[in-house]
Amino acid sequence: MSLKVAIVGLGGIGNTHARVYQKHPDSEIVAVCDILHDRADKAAELYGSPAFYSIREMLDSGIQIDAVSMCTAGVENGGDHYEPTMELLGAGLPVLGEKPISNDVGKAGEMVALAKAKNVRYGVNLNHRFTPAAVRAKEWVDEGRLGEIHIINMTMWINNPNESSPWFHMRALHPHSIDVMRYYAGDVVKVHAFFKKGKGRAIWSNVQVNMLFENGILGHLTGSYDATGPGGSYGLETLEVVGSDARFILREACEHLEFYPRFSRETVTYDYIGGMMSFGETFGSRIGRWVEQNIEGVKPEEIDGSGEDALKAQLVIEAAIESWQTGTVVTL
Ligand SMILES: NC(=O)c1ccc[n+]([C@@H]2O[C@H](COP(=O)([O-])OP(=O)(O)OC[C@H]3O[C@@H](n4cnc5c(N)ncnc54)[C@H](O)[C@@H]3O)[C@@H](O)[C@H]2O)c1
Repeated sequence: MSLKVAIVGLGGIGNTHARVYQKHPDSEIVAVCDILHDRADKAAELYGSPAFYSIREMLDSGIQIDAVSMCTAGVENGGDHYEPTMELLGAGLPVLGEKPISNDVGKAGEMVALAKAKNVRYGVNLNHRFTPAAVRAKEWVDEGRLGEIHIINMTMWINNPNESSPWFHMRALHPHSIDVMRYYAGDVVKVHAFFKKGKGRAIWSNVQVNMLFENGILGHLTGSYDATGPGGSYGLETLEVVGSDARFILREACEHLEFYPRFSRETVTYDYIGGMMSFGETFGSRIGRWVEQNIEGVKPEEIDGSGEDALKAQLVIEAAIESWQTGTVVTL
């Protein structure tokens, strides 16, 4: 079976999704949709599928669509996702949304609830957890190689001078970091955060967040939009998970994975597991898994990197903002 895919929102990221589907042996692009006619028309030409300028027009066309990539953006990179996503889920179509699921956590909750009510698959492009290195480390955790996990530390930072809104950095970047932390440590129950505006900046572009996970694990996130050089994503991500028997360090989401046993010095280092060389390739592994799970016809609650996972990350983000605004520890 070939998964018939529509893509909504043909900016840089919609086109990134399209290139993945185009190369994938089990998917084909059957429709592209953007309210900006020139973007839809250009994509139609590139991917050889009809262009639509609204979701309604696309749904009314009668074209068979099995799943949709929803790559709109908007305020804090998530403000435009709600309406088209509700329309697609309401029509019973599986949706792979972009992150953040929404900049408005209430709307994020409505989208997740509608997907549940309709029993439709809803995933979000939480691509960082889908790298072969992240998956290998998850196997170690599940096999108990780390023993009991005590601590999880994440640093995620890039250079982003965009000053669009006070919470842009927290809401737009940290769905990724918090999702990866949840992937290894589970649900978060308490959050405490401090924010700092970068030099000369109007927005809260630096953050330190303490988290307590439901199972007692202690987590810390360091985040910034004022780090690394222009254009580069080097230094993007460092994750350290520390257990009673061993710890691991995952660098740059997929590039380097180091295993340190606690009671011996037999350190093991893996570089570029599965041949994945850089962050850009993470779209391929995440979207590949989405294609695979749709073809397998998995139940909506079995989707990896689900809308619900994205909502839970966004709830931690809002708790961090509330913690800073109120000077308190926020319980989720
Ligand atoms: N997962 C990742 O690693 C990653 C990386 C970067 C960006 N992103 C996310 O990807 C998303 C898209 O980013 P971008 O830079 O491509 O944005 P963009 O603004 O360039 O493109 C969004 C497109 O959506 C279209 N659009 C808006 N509302 C629409 C509607 N109702 N129907 C049809 N089209 C509509 C716009 O006209 C625009 O062409 C953002 O949410 C961003 O946060 C994810």
